[in-house]
Amino acid sequence: MEEAVISQEGTEEIYYPPPDVVSQAHIKDYQSLYEESIRDPQAFWEARARELEWYREWDQVLDDSSPPFFKWFTGARTNIVHNALDRHVKTYRKNKLALIWEGETGETRTFSYFALHREVCKFANVLRSMGVKKGDIVTIYMPRIPEMVIAMLACAKIGAPHSVVYGGFSVEALAERIEDAESRVLITADGGYMRGKTVGLKDIADEAMARQPTIESCIVARRTGQEIYMEPGRDYWYHELMSLPITNNSCQTEEMDSEDPVFILYTSGTTGRPKGVVHTHGGYMVHIYATLKYVFDLKDEDRWWCAADPGWITGHSYIVYGPLILGATSFMYEGAPNYPYPNRWWRMVENYGITVLYTAPTAIRGLMRYGDAWVRRHDLSSLRLLGSVGEPINPEAWRWYYSVVGRENCPIMDTWWQTETGGFVITPLPVTPLKPGSATRPFFGIEVDVVNEQGESAPPGEEGYLVIKTPFPGMMRTIYKDPERFKTQYWSKFPGMYQTGDSARKDKDGYIWVIGRMDDVIKGSGYRRGPAEVESALVSHPAVAEAAAIGLPHDLKGNAIHAFVILRQGVEPSDKLAEELRAHVGHEMGPIARPEDIKFVDSLPKTRSGKIMRRVLRARALGQPEGDLTTIEE
Ligand code: WT7
Repeated sequence: MEEAVISQEGTEEIYYPPPDVVSQAHIKDYQSLYEESIRDPQAFWEARARELEWYREWDQVLDDSSPPFFKWFTGARTNIVHNALDRHVKTYRKNKLALIWEGETGETRTFSYFALHREVCKFANVLRSMGVKKGDIVTIYMPRIPEMVIAMLACAKIGAPHSVVYGGFSVEALAERIEDAESRVLITADGGYMRGKTVGLKDIADEAMARQPTIESCIVARRTGQEIYMEPGRDYWYHELMSLPITNNSCQTEEMDSEDPVFILYTSGTTGRPKGVVHTHGGYMVHIYATLKYVFDLKDEDRWWCAADPGWITGHSYIVYGPLILGATSFMYEGAPNYPYPNRWWRMVENYGITVLYTAPTAIRGLMRYGDAWVRRHDLSSLRLLGSVGEPINPEAWRWYYSVVGRENCPIMDTWWQTETGGFVITPLPVTPLKPGSATRPFFGIEVDVVNEQGESAPPGEEGYLVIKTPFPGMMRTIYKDPERFKTQYWSKFPGMYQTGDSARKDKDGYIWVIGRMDDVIKGSGYRRGPAEVESALVSHPAVAEAAAIGLPHDLKGNAIHAFVILRQGVEPSDKLAEELRAHVGHEMGPIARPEDIKFVDSLPKTRSGKIMRRVLRARALGQPEGDLTTIEE
């Protein structure tokens, strides 16, 4: 490590990359290539697209005739699975490991590209035999097991967009996503392991199917072997279907239009129900390929571990599709980072020779608190790069990650992006000088800025709205069934700019420092939750008349959910009731939405039009000034 440099502004740490990282890197000079890519973004993306295979080439790289509905590689025919699997089995990669999986219970399963391709073909045949057609949305609700990856790829292969619902979500969250997608097929498992206990996924799926009768067939993978209910004529075992004679090992990949949806993924906004973010076969594929290649410098010999869940965009892009498109080996672990001991992750890094580890600040903080010894007892010398995503990483966690996990040898790629952007937007490259807590500079072909209320570029040091000014291929195309909401939510505040919902500032070097959400979206433990979803779960309890949910800072989680509840007439507040309400939200939404704390109140601050002023609640809870109260009506 070179010595930290003191800048004119005070004590600013800058970490320069080790020489061998620079000499191996795909890109040695960010600035000149960035400038070139901004002069002609289409040329940059087109060159990346040419590195992949297409059934038919595009007529146009970017169709910007009706913004904000941008289209990429129009007229082209492809399928993301062709690039992720089909093309590799025709090369030496056929016998290379595509996926290494370790269960929380300790067993390992591995899939070569040949084997993964075979399983995907077989399962795609199963889906087709059940009547799943191009364009049908299949809901996937599974634990972190290889069958989940196979299911996602099989859907994409036959042109049926998947809608993955994170396995930690619960009944209401699952039911409303099934309803919005109008799925007829659900793929799930009997259960999953988490912290040594089993979680009954099929029980939750049964309850959701009872609420949402669109599901005609439910495919169940066996993981825990626990006792479950199987409804005749509706529920089928994955392993039984996979041994039927129809499931031969070859299956034609559906030729898709570049702009056809590859999946929808629901994410939370400030108001209303979750939004189905739509990504495409063509543009999304090119974006995640280019970002993973340049940012994590993935090479054939790498063993890449993105420690997210495939149920989130991070997992979609960088566990499943990205590494496979690059022909790398992707590692996936089923369970909790500290189970059975706090060295679980480090033991796996050593055992599998992981070369690049990509995780979230909340996980880093969680493991940091067990001390250095758990890390130091393992040989982590295989690591050459580290990554962070999900929220701003606090410098203390950054330094620990850098010095203890990375032995001052592994640059940390702090990648800023969103479900909506499909892949990285602001991120270092291995050669970028790093400042702990900053995601540094925009990726090639993308211009970002920090602007004030009037949409004017803010000077260095001033906090403002983080916006994106250039269209890029991985950007969401629309909100499923709600293009109007796509326009108003993201594109209406500043003409011609995509509003990220984050606040940020630039520094004098053009580095971006993301501060956090400007809207009421709650980012905690890396998860994103809409206050409205938590509130509607609370209000569905008979004791609750009204509720408000906000995020407040939390040491480990980044932010934690705090709820304010007005009880119905005649209901007495008590600790027991608060506990019951927390459990109720957990049952409806899943443990990740369970409020940290519930306070009973007599009124809530509201605008005259009746909207809850969550910023006022937040200010009060933090003992800060309440700001402009001209619209309040308590
Ligand atoms: C929000 C998007 C993209 C994968 C995971 C989250 C926050 C994300 C960073 C980062 C600071 C970050 C932002 C963003 N965020 N990465 N490196 N530094 N903040 O996806 O659930 O759609 O959440 O996560 O607030 O808007 P998501």
